[in-house]
Amino acid sequence: MYTEKVMDHFQHPRNMGEIEGASGIGTVGNAKCGDIMRIYLDIDKEGIIQDVKFKTFGCGAAVATSSMATELVKGKNIQEAMKVTNQAVMEALDGLPPVKVHCSLLAEEAIHAALWDYAEKNGIQIEGLEKPKSDIHEGEEEEEEEY
Ligand code: FES
Repeated sequence: MYTEKVMDHFQHPRNMGEIEGASGIGTVGNAKCGDIMRIYLDIDKEGIIQDVKFKTFGCGAAVATSSMATELVKGKNIQEAMKVTNQAVMEALDGLPPVKVHCSLLAEEAIHAALWDYAEKNGIQIEGLEKPKSDIHEGEEEEEEEY
């Protein structure tokens, strides 16, 4: 059900941990499954992401997508990091099963939340960046489904 790349990133996650004194930290949860992801960014004066770490309390797909997302933003500038969407992360992992697509959304949102934190701390605005949600389902219609 999972691709080799997903299994690889799940079993050998890259960039797991935290950064002390990070330039930006973003935390996003998914109330439906209870999973939480936190991303730490270390951004230099030129706006380049020098280091990135993550902590994910969640399912295997969430661990794999956080790991891949950190690999994709490392060494990039902010505008390039903004292009690391959940779609891009999924493609880099050679796909995710449909029921696990929402897990990759956590990675995109957590990166955006960390960039937002960085922008706020530095009094800057990042083009195209919207205020992050603390939960990926925030603002959705209440659904009756049970999970
Ligand atoms: Fe919750 Fe994957 S099941 S993030």
